[in-house]
Amino acid sequence: MGPLSYRTLDLAGSAEDARRFDRMTGIYHKGQDLAWNGREVLASLLEKHGGPQVPAHLKGPLQRVFSSILWGELAAWKISAQLADRIEPLGAKMAATSQAHDEARHFYVIHDYLVAATGSAPRELAPASERLLNAVLEADDLACKLLGMQLQVETTALTIFQGVREKRVCPVLSELLLYFEKDEARHVGLGLQYLPVLVRDMGALHRARFTKFALEITVHLLGGLWAMSDDLRALGLDPREIMRLGKSKQLLVFEELWASSPVERSVVGDRISHFLEAVASATWPDESERDVRGRARAFLRAWQSDGVETVATAIDPTAKPEPVPPAPRL
Ligand SMILES: [Fe+2]
Ligand SMILES: [Fe+2]
Repeated sequence: MGPLSYRTLDLAGSAEDARRFDRMTGIYHKGQDLAWNGREVLASLLEKHGGPQVPAHLKGPLQRVFSSILWGELAAWKISAQLADRIEPLGAKMAATSQAHDEARHFYVIHDYLVAATGSAPRELAPASERLLNAVLEADDLACKLLGMQLQVETTALTIFQGVREKRVCPVLSELLLYFEKDEARHVGLGLQYLPVLVRDMGALHRARFTKFALEITVHLLGGLWAMSDDLRALGLDPREIMRLGKSKQLLVFEELWASSPVERSVVGDRISHFLEAVASATWPDESERDVRGRARAFLRAWQSDGVETVATAIDPTAKPEPVPPAPRL
């Protein structure tokens, strides 16, 4: 926990910063105005639809996909609480505090829904997803934490929410996820507003570390999506499409981020874009490239199309997922 800081009130270095902190204060107030009662909303949706309506053959896939979501909500809760403690400027601190309140609600509502719909809450997490969440939880650097959680993990979660909602796997869940999506959009907003303030003051070494962290998170995100490929397909979702949508959202966010940053345009967004394409081509190839060598070729082609040095060892698309570890402790 950080010590008490009286600087909290005096940290807007410019009029632009002051505007950003005002918007972040607005995120807190909006969070309070739009806070929904998770117990009441879930109970009323269950009553409206006569209970959860997940077909028996989809309960397993739903549990496994939502294992990452459930434990991701806990990670988001812990990370936003870390941010609320460590961020100094008042507006950003308020927005992070509001997010912690939202994530607590998300965690218990997803938990209660899964118990009602599938009989239990998942206590296992795919290794890649666990590595992803732990990497952001354990990151010491505030900019890395914000980038990893608010701009990479939360945009991907939003993409999965949207897909599951549109496929109407369960009408209760489809309506419930609308509430989540509105909250998550505010959380992405915190990253968008505060990250440029942090990025602006980065030196070359710091920015290189930041880029490396972004790529690491991308590898873990893709590994997590790959591990749940079969379950996503069972729910009617195309993993590659999820990755593409997630990528477009991340890129839009990066564009916004760098457009508002006074430093020269960063290569982070471009690198992530090419990296995602390269790995996706290898992981979810077209029919003609389903053999291992075909996968390797697809990976190298996509990655080299930008003339970027190959990093084929960064992810092995032929590897099997490791045995599932026990769930992280609360
Ligand atoms: Fe959440
Ligand atoms: Fe969130």
